[in-house]
Amino acid sequence: KVNGSCLQNQVLRPQPGWVELNPDSLWTLFVDVVKEAVQVAGIQMHQIAALGLSTQRSTFITWNKKTGKPFHNFISWQDVRAGELTKIWNRSFLMKVIRGISSLLHFFTRSSQFLLASYLSFTTQHISLRLAWILQHITEVEQAIKEDNCCFGTIDTWLLYKLTKGSVYATEYSNASSTGFFDPTKMQWSMFLSKLLSIPVSIFPPVQDTSHNFGSVDAEIFGAPIKITALVADQQAAMFGECCFDVGDLKVTMGTGSFWDVNTGSKVHTSRKGLYPLVGWKIGKEVIYLAEGNASDTGNAIKWAQSLDLFTSADETSKMAHSLVNSGGVCFVPSFSGLQIPVNDPYACTSFMGITPSTTKNHLVRAMLESIAFRNKQLYDTITRDVGIEPTSIRADGGVSKNNFVMQMTSDLTNKTISRPASTDMSCLGAAFLAGLAVGFWNDKEQLKKLIRPDMVFKPQKEPEEYEPAMSNWIKAVQRSLSWYSQTSP
Ligand SMILES: *[C@@H]1O[C@H](CO)[C@@H](O)[C@H](O)[C@H]1NC(C)=O
Ligand SMILES: *[C@@H]1O[C@H](CO)[C@@H](O)[C@H](O)[C@H]1NC(C)=O
Ligand SMILES: *[C@@H]1O[C@H](CO)[C@@H](O)[C@H](O)[C@H]1NC(C)=O
Ligand SMILES: *[C@@H]1O[C@H](CO)[C@@H](O)[C@H](O)[C@H]1NC(C)=O
Repeated sequence: KVNGSCLQNQVLRPQPGWVELNPDSLWTLFVDVVKEAVQVAGIQMHQIAALGLSTQRSTFITWNKKTGKPFHNFISWQDVRAGELTKIWNRSFLMKVIRGISSLLHFFTRSSQFLLASYLSFTTQHISLRLAWILQHITEVEQAIKEDNCCFGTIDTWLLYKLTKGSVYATEYSNASSTGFFDPTKMQWSMFLSKLLSIPVSIFPPVQDTSHNFGSVDAEIFGAPIKITALVADQQAAMFGECCFDVGDLKVTMGTGSFWDVNTGSKVHTSRKGLYPLVGWKIGKEVIYLAEGNASDTGNAIKWAQSLDLFTSADETSKMAHSLVNSGGVCFVPSFSGLQIPVNDPYACTSFMGITPSTTKNHLVRAMLESIAFRNKQLYDTITRDVGIEPTSIRADGGVSKNNFVMQMTSDLTNKTISRPASTDMSCLGAAFLAGLAVGFWNDKEQLKKLIRPDMVFKPQKEPEEYEPAMSNWIKAVQRSLSWYSQTSP
């Protein structure tokens, strides 16, 4: 896995709201990281049994089928260039008609496919409208589609294509289902969206099982032909790495944002609360679905505070927060990219409220960490109620899970035990597990469960009620931060 912060330094912002990655730099960086990791591990390339790739979702590129040359840079999931287009579509009469008819069809057929369509609305984070934007603005792409010479890929597909020197062109289910262009109820690219947006499904790669023999790395690249046996999107990989194999298993990954995922088994969960249904993985005949909710500013907010010198290293924050009994009435609302579930306000602003002359840096830091735990509590409640589960425990990973204050407070608020593995990068492990299963390095999932040991387990120490005053104060701060902007700010 190419380190996120490494990647962050490569991000291009050619215009306000545009977020791109150069495909050649990404490729070079990827190859260097793999070589370095193998060297540091003290092993040889020919000793590697299999390669699994876990990649961030919804970042895409299109390229020339004949020459392999990209038509443009990667368009990042954070890119909001299609904002206007999104608004126009979302408000259009056609969309109202579609939602209305789908809702009616769902009433009569009870088919989850129609229920999903009845909630259909576009966001810039879905690929659909960013891709439509590309088709409208880059004539080369339009031309290539007419000549059946256009390939579309997310990062996984692009890396696979490069690793095999252009001989393999594919993606897999977890990834495809994260594009917003895939119909999880039918397990195929959405014909409906394709027709609606005039984007031919022929440009999309064939979809394969998560754990599958995708081909081998061209021997020239690493000096040995390594089998590629897993492609998986990041959150799904983390879920697999945490061994959340059973229905009702729940994990939270706290990285840049917080991602809560619950295993819903063989059932696509259609949510009334805006949880996103995803394919977790498909291995042979087994398809596991997840429902996901996120809060977009977790590590993001901590990073911002660090850039203002509120502290020098994120490791200090837990101690700073613990040095106080409360935040002294200070509330922080983390909303650099709006507030997602269950608030759902893209126009909310980030704010500090309740600052007094005696407020110190420690109060500000404590308020920030508390806000992460409060968002966790909101997401936990929404997911467990919406999916109808009562989990016995929660598994946590991601960089921010190293923060003991956030972990303990989340455990107190949810009244659940939370375990944290020794290595917090579970998406790497998940990709490795999937790749290893495919080549028989491990026999089954039971064997994988025995491999992971929690490093630390947080048990509820306080009654959730003790946080009641602080949380209701925070909710008040959230209310006052809503609808601040008149349009989503990039
Ligand atoms: C698969 O994952 C890659 C890497 O995250 C992501 O960029 C891409 O959007 C996903 N593929 C699809 C088809 O969604
Ligand atoms: C899209 O439209 C729906 C229904 O009209 C609305 O609830 C939602 O807030 C809109 N989303 C955006 C991003 O404008
Ligand atoms: C986060 O959740 C919102 C819905 O609340 C969704 O539109 C968005 O795509 C999610 N973000 C990511 C990165 O998956
Ligand atoms: C917290 O969980 C414990 C054990 O599961 C239970 O006995 C207790 O009633 C719970 N407390 C609250 C406030 O729900």
